[in-house]
Amino acid sequence: MDHQLVVMFHLLCAVLFVGAVAMEVLILEPVRKLIGDELFQQVEFYLFRRIRRTYPFAVIPLYITGFYMYFGYIESFGGFAAFIDTRFGMMLTVKMSLALGLLTIFATSPFVFMQHRSRSAGGHLKHFLIVTGGPEDFRIDRFEAVHYLAMGLGIGIVVLAKLMFML
Ligand code: HEM
Repeated sequence: MDHQLVVMFHLLCAVLFVGAVAMEVLILEPVRKLIGDELFQQVEFYLFRRIRRTYPFAVIPLYITGFYMYFGYIESFGGFAAFIDTRFGMMLTVKMSLALGLLTIFATSPFVFMQHRSRSAGGHLKHFLIVTGGPEDFRIDRFEAVHYLAMGLGIGIVVLAKLMFML
């Protein structure tokens, strides 16, 4: 597939993903002070559940296109050793590592944010895929730290993605 088309698709998915995190930090967090913790917990639970159920459709293609391009670059540099020896290769690999960190936050979020009661493997899988439980199970005490970390990673990834072509 044409490289620029893959980049465009990668960027569209990236905008959706990092945009959702930015919305949570810049819009929802300040609104919390106006609506109070009880209402915030309800709103955030339904928002989080919706994001967790729909965003895999952006997140999975984002990482597939990313790795597709990453391995393409390794091949064009003639192998990983030659690739990592360049500033571009090093920065792209750091960007990939930060992106994997962000993916870990997204993937584990049902267990980080929700008080999950099921003990069976099927129950864990169901919770991982669609988020089970109700608004009362949502841990608002973890909201700030996790979202600020995710936002920091998102900004770092985008800045690195541009710097690796400039330096
Ligand atoms: C949260 C996850 C990610 C975000 C927000 C993100 C964001 C971006 C951005 C903004 C660009 C610059 C595109 C441009 O303007 O030229 C880019 C390029 C790139 N990304 Fe990602 N990315 C993510 C994950 C990944 C992953 C996991 C990989 C795999 C290693 C990856 C590999 C690449 C590559 C190879 C390019 C260079 C594209 C080119 O040749 O122009 N990305 N990414």
